[in-house]
Amino acid sequence: MSIPQLLFSSLWFILPAYAANMTPVVTGGGRTIDGGRKFLDGRPLLGPGKTVRGFACGVLVGSLVGMVQALLHPLLEPRLPLLLGGPLETALAGFLLSLGAMLGDLAGSFLKRRMGVERGEPFPLLDQLDFVAGALLLSLPLILPRLTWGVLAVLLLLTPPLHLLTNYAGYRMGLKSRPY
Ligand code: CTP
Ligand code: MG
Repeated sequence: MSIPQLLFSSLWFILPAYAANMTPVVTGGGRTIDGGRKFLDGRPLLGPGKTVRGFACGVLVGSLVGMVQALLHPLLEPRLPLLLGGPLETALAGFLLSLGAMLGDLAGSFLKRRMGVERGEPFPLLDQLDFVAGALLLSLPLILPRLTWGVLAVLLLLTPPLHLLTNYAGYRMGLKSRPY
């Protein structure tokens, strides 16, 4: 596989997770997932930045992206190297990647709170990679046959800069109060 092909197939694969992760910035609000509860250490379990609506909309939008990808699969397959076997795997992966992304994001916030990092304060690399880790974990059974070190390297190296770039764009568009 050439470098451009590797870049395309890796990013195409993870796209539902990216879509899921971006959605709550726009749709979040309302009831928080932890309901204001505190953990044993007296700090918030997850914090007020994690809402039920943000989570649900993230899974929904990411899954929809996966369904569109599934529809496009037969068109792309002969021309481009895709990491998922067929339309059915692609749609299922869309859901698992989105759910995994949202769960990974919760795990990231849980860890941040345990380390005394306030909601919205930056935690480099954890903020950028928690959702990718969750997405990969949940979709592992589907992606395993075609997962290579190259794909992993692309996802882990390109996600942080792409994440920062989209966050900065969101900030400039007035969607986010912080540029990171
Ligand atoms: N969001 C949400 N529900 C989620 C995840 C995110 O409503 N399950 C919304 C919140 O408005 C949040 C924004 O999306 O502020 C950005 O998400 P993120 O950067 O993950 O949250 P932070 O506010 O930075 O909180 P944390 O420190 O816990 O990461
Ligand atoms: Mg954050």
